[in-house]
Amino acid sequence: MSYPYQINSLEAYYKAYRKSVEEPEVFWAEIAEHFNWYKKPKQILNWNFIEPKVTWFNDVKLNITENCLDRWAESQPDTPAIIWESNHPNEAHRIITYRELLHKVNLFSQVLKNNGVQKGDRICIYMPMVPELAIAMLSCARVGAIHSVVFGGFSAQSIADRIHDASCKLVITADGAFRGNKIIDLKNTIDDALVQCKSVEKVIVLTRTREPISMIKGRDIWWEDEIEKIEANGYPFFIPEVMDAEDPLFILYTSGSTGKPKGVVHSCAGYMVYTNYTFVNVFQYQHGDVFFCTADAGWITGHSYIVYGPLSAGATSLMFEGIPTFPDAGRFWDIVEKFQVNILYTAPTAIRSLMSFGTGFVDAKNLSSLKVLGTVGEPINEEAWHWYDTHIGKNKCPIVDTWWQTETGGIMISNLAGITPAKPSYATLPLPGIQTLLLDENGIPLKGSDASIEELPHEMASGNLCIKFPWPSILRTTYGDHERCKLTYFSTYPNLYFTGDGCLRDTEGNYRITGRVDDVLNVSGHRIGTAELENAINQHSGVIESAIVGYPHDVKGQGIYAYVIYQGNLEDKKLVAADINQTVTRIIGAIAKPDKIQFVSGLPKTRSGKIMRRILRKIAEGESENLGDISTLLDPEIVQAIVGERI
Ligand code: WT7
Repeated sequence: MSYPYQINSLEAYYKAYRKSVEEPEVFWAEIAEHFNWYKKPKQILNWNFIEPKVTWFNDVKLNITENCLDRWAESQPDTPAIIWESNHPNEAHRIITYRELLHKVNLFSQVLKNNGVQKGDRICIYMPMVPELAIAMLSCARVGAIHSVVFGGFSAQSIADRIHDASCKLVITADGAFRGNKIIDLKNTIDDALVQCKSVEKVIVLTRTREPISMIKGRDIWWEDEIEKIEANGYPFFIPEVMDAEDPLFILYTSGSTGKPKGVVHSCAGYMVYTNYTFVNVFQYQHGDVFFCTADAGWITGHSYIVYGPLSAGATSLMFEGIPTFPDAGRFWDIVEKFQVNILYTAPTAIRSLMSFGTGFVDAKNLSSLKVLGTVGEPINEEAWHWYDTHIGKNKCPIVDTWWQTETGGIMISNLAGITPAKPSYATLPLPGIQTLLLDENGIPLKGSDASIEELPHEMASGNLCIKFPWPSILRTTYGDHERCKLTYFSTYPNLYFTGDGCLRDTEGNYRITGRVDDVLNVSGHRIGTAELENAINQHSGVIESAIVGYPHDVKGQGIYAYVIYQGNLEDKKLVAADINQTVTRIIGAIAKPDKIQFVSGLPKTRSGKIMRRILRKIAEGESENLGDISTLLDPEIVQAIVGERI
């Protein structure tokens, strides 16, 4: 089975793209026909990018879980929905069919209801990569609650900030998580977070590691006990809550150029249609294929391409609990062989890391089931691209380089596997519905950047990437602060969505993302806001001031370089640096720890007190001489001092 809206030739791509621009409402209305609605859409799109306000399929009624579960449980009950592989190669894997997944979601939805959850309530999920994480997300969606998944690498403080921002009523977690040879004590971290969170009434705890944990009477309950109670009462079916198109489906926090993470809000109908459409088209998913996305469900990639995209398409989604290098660097390839994976979607950082172990781990495995490869999260360098192509794809699998963001909900610029041409290190062409525009710093559209994608050749252009027309899964707001949404994404260039990315377009219209143009780093495909990290470092008692920049890192893409002005005893710099790292781990989480910390006596600042990051970036990159114009600095001497003590 393929999908009626699956693009199957280059011609068909151009045709779809043209239609999506000329008649966007007709285009998306036709795709929307392939979903289950309680009430079919008539109003397709209302929008302005000034407020901003965007609604898609505004008058429909739906529940996304009917589209992800019920319809497939009926038509293909025995098809695996989720295949789960443990962190430990010796622990049995799990295969959960659509029938079983629906049943489990029905049960857990009832658990939520029994614990007072109602439509619109916010629920924080802090869980390991086990099927129950997907079950928890889907159950929230079924009862109409809004989930806010927090990645397991964030600290108690970060969780508390996120719970507080959304006034979450309930937390779903586990005793712990297995990650490689480590145990992460999730429940302890939640307990620390909850000291500050008065809004949380209940904590549901799944058993995973069965390490000792504290369970507080009246607040903490075991997942398994709650399910048992319901099974004893024989609740077979949970009637999904009827949702409006624009009801929020979830909140996902992401870092930006200011100190505080933003809660990106996605809504039900548009998000569903777009993640499904992009899943089916970019990966060219065919019925029965095994799709393996290696992301953690705590990031947008996991939301859109482990859970909602694949399940809404009736696909088989493989979920892996562990890490690529445990017990050895052949783990991904074991999994590909074991489950005959057809489509593999991973991050350049993982590819670069596995590359460094040589091809021994790869050559020992049979990877012949693979048909399509994908990457996401950061620019992929040509070397990694070719290694992926040669050693994993054996030169017969198209590679899709998918550019998108937490805010876009789904893939925006990518080739379609085997249908539109790939070009190493280019995300290539915009998907149907995505109207891109490149501008210079003054907001002037670059020459040729507005031309139709079919008018070739294009003029080369390089500038800031914007989108000029809404697509169904565009973020709707930032939770609790619409002004911030407007300011961050819709004010830099009036009437346009600004991505924060720099971009180059070649003469054939292919896009190459060159990286963030704001103060946001991309470390191993994860976004780290420099302001947020500086705030965390500055909380260390001896730190007077700090400045964070990125530098090229062989595996992570970007590494974190911290310049710190420290007041106090610096005899043991290593120890002080470790203290600072510990502070960062406490405040944000281990994922934000700087790779390098240089103690400095001052920072290069302009007369108005602005730190000149351009200079710090050059120094971190290893540059000593061509540091650009330093004449506007308050104290130009400081530059040579910093260069002299570079690490
Ligand atoms: C930023 C978004 C979207 C999933 C994971 C990251 C960078 C993402 C690519 C790509 C070059 C990419 C951009 C973007 N990025 N994909 N294929 N090529 N850069 O989500 O945390 O919201 O980060 O990741 O800079 O703005 P995110």
